[in-house]
Amino acid sequence: MLDKNIKIAIDGPAGSGKSTIARILAEKLSLIYIDTGAMYRAITLKALKLGKFTKEDIISVAENSQIDFDGGKIYLDGSDVSEEIRKPAVDENVSYVASIPEVREKLVVLQKKMAEKKGVVMDGRDVGTVVLPDADYKFFLTAKVEERAKRRYNELCKKGIFKDYEEIKKEIIKRDKLDAERECSPFKKAEDAVEVDTTGKDIETVVKEILEYIKKGVK
Ligand code: DC
Repeated sequence: MLDKNIKIAIDGPAGSGKSTIARILAEKLSLIYIDTGAMYRAITLKALKLGKFTKEDIISVAENSQIDFDGGKIYLDGSDVSEEIRKPAVDENVSYVASIPEVREKLVVLQKKMAEKKGVVMDGRDVGTVVLPDADYKFFLTAKVEERAKRRYNELCKKGIFKDYEEIKKEIIKRDKLDAERECSPFKKAEDAVEVDTTGKDIETVVKEILEYIKKGVK
């Protein structure tokens, strides 16, 4: 029987499958799912809509926004923005927003609060290192960049957005680099995280692999 306050951290680069896998795991284990990337995306979306592009403006957007999760959806100032935050314009600007220390500070406080006294599966880039350093289980998902770009390409096609595969690949490489090289909480694997390579594996296989680890109590 799992502790109902269990904390599971899942980190990984764009397209590693972490959000889909984290959501399924949360469902299977009856835990709350928190997508921290969606929070950086929501702030980016609002800044874009308001035409706020300076660092100071973006910090002010972060300080004056209300972000909530409910029923698998993310709400920004009370409106469901779950679809809008996946738009290419957000993809292109979110790494910059996520590199601003004051924005991270504000969102990390919120993320820690969301995980207080609750069992959660939380996914992102710094969950195992910064947000939940004492998580019961930490997983770090990886996949070859070609496969990650292909997944993103297919995801966009399904939504009727047709973007060049090579362009997507280039953007993913750029985003990985920005996330890994930023000064504040750069994206990296927690030393005690279990690495899971998802290249060539379907979602079900990865979920099974992670559930096996959890069942065995391997930390
Ligand atoms: O996982 P994603 O693609 O939705 O993340 C969007 C961006 O936010 C990505 O550039 C990395 C950043 N991010 C972050 O810096 N820290 C997190 N905990 C989650 C996401």
